[in-house]
Amino acid sequence: MKIIGDTTPNNFTFISEVPVEFGEYVIAKNVDNEEVLAIVKDVIYREKTYICNAKVLGVIKDKKIYINRKPINPEEDVKLCDNNFLTLLFFNKDGINLGSLLTRRNVRVFLDTNKFISRHFAILSITGGGKSNTVSVLCKELARKNATVIIIDPHGEYSNLYHIELQGKVNSILPSINPAFFNSDELAEFLGIKEKESKIYLKYAYDTIKLEKITGLDFLERMIDLFYEWIQAAEVGWEIKYYNINKRKFEVRKTTEKDFVILSTLYNLLNEFLENYSIYISEKDIISQIKPNHINVIDLSGLEVHQMISLVGYIAKELLSKRIIYLKSLKDINLKCEKIKSIAIKNLEIIENKYKVVKKPFLLIVEEAHIFIPRNSENNASFWLGKIAREGRKFGVGLGLISQRPKQLNPDVLSQTGTKIVLRIVEPEDQKYIMSVSEDIGEELAKDLSSLDIGEALISGIAINLPSLVKIDKFDGIYGGKDIDFIKEWRGLEGWR
Ligand SMILES: Nc1ncnc2c1ncn2[C@@H]1O[C@H](COP(=O)(O)OP(=O)(O)OP(=O)(O)O)[C@@H](O)[C@H]1O
Ligand SMILES: [Mg+2]
Repeated sequence: MKIIGDTTPNNFTFISEVPVEFGEYVIAKNVDNEEVLAIVKDVIYREKTYICNAKVLGVIKDKKIYINRKPINPEEDVKLCDNNFLTLLFFNKDGINLGSLLTRRNVRVFLDTNKFISRHFAILSITGGGKSNTVSVLCKELARKNATVIIIDPHGEYSNLYHIELQGKVNSILPSINPAFFNSDELAEFLGIKEKESKIYLKYAYDTIKLEKITGLDFLERMIDLFYEWIQAAEVGWEIKYYNINKRKFEVRKTTEKDFVILSTLYNLLNEFLENYSIYISEKDIISQIKPNHINVIDLSGLEVHQMISLVGYIAKELLSKRIIYLKSLKDINLKCEKIKSIAIKNLEIIENKYKVVKKPFLLIVEEAHIFIPRNSENNASFWLGKIAREGRKFGVGLGLISQRPKQLNPDVLSQTGTKIVLRIVEPEDQKYIMSVSEDIGEELAKDLSSLDIGEALISGIAINLPSLVKIDKFDGIYGGKDIDFIKEWRGLEGWR
């Protein structure tokens, strides 16, 4: 295979009599006689000859790739890169193996596990592009490493996650909410209460009931009773009595007709909530149900969007802050100060009894991440997930964002993800957006995204040696996101392929 025309340090064109595919790896030499790895970006077939444009990936030194700064030597022949070299280049003993090179199916691609998790990642594609399949393969790989994974699952896609290697390792959790564990703002968000005056009354009731040490369903039932009492007072303009947590004493407030309306609305809202969602209210703390060294799936599919957002904010906050407390307490027990030491011992005891999950590093995967970390607005979930994206690395908390609407994801948080697994993306706007939040996806690579088939991905970033096109393995187990076979279902036959 011979080079034709001009060369640069980044590009060259060569001709070949033997077939060459798009995405094929080739080796040329630069003018300093160093071997250079390149990838074929364009192939024209003319008069029984393949005319190929190649992009230089870097110069090969000690089986690693470095930036090439010298032009390619047009005198030297080009040869196909052999499998052994590519296998070595993409191998990582403790790595995560999601699939193989698109153009060399016998070369397996490994991601550096520590970098992949600690520096966070994003998996993006159009709907049906293969994101959930990728997450399932990832879970299988991580379970082999005894990892702790927590999947936020808004559509219940993973609640029946099954694989022979995952047996006994999947922990499906239904949302259980103890309103007494939320703060009053979180409870307002959870109940969908936005108006300022309503939030004030909710806080009065919340602080008053908190004092009574009531939890679970009783908490909300007591709240309904309290609102009922207050409605009756407001109807005749009497005072209501509530606990002021800041002043640590009971106070009174004179009511008006307006208060009557606000309280009646709150009363109705709470009653309606309990009618529809009381199954999710309990005394259990959802965090204490998360198990270390398991794939924990939190199935949010029965909840409304604002309820999901509030609960995810709570989960992210509790996980990050409890992990920080755990690491700090481990240090503090060695201090001389008895007071600090005894607080640390108490914290470690609580964590040992109720929150074992935070004793080890963990990975939080958020499906439909655009719901929780939207581009143009803030909520409790985006605040805490953003914090994990910025600070989680220091505490051993990894974050994986999955989305079919990358453009609707907050760019600051998305750009904090060190590895991007981008499957098929058709919209040029989405491609541009992904380019703008990825350091090493240029225009050329972004163009590849629309030509990808289902399950084919461009993987780039800190966990992989080179941005590469990878065929993700088909998950050989069960998850719930598979395409429904309409014909079979309508005929009354088995519906899932
Ligand atoms: N790597 C792959 N190899 C073969 N088939 C795949 C691969 N990835 C996905 N598929 C198939 O494509 C279909 C859709 O995949 P998947 O559920 O992963 O899409 P998705 O991106 O999660 O979609 P959505 O955004 O709607 O959740 C499934 O039937 C799945 O089996
Ligand atoms: Mg999916």
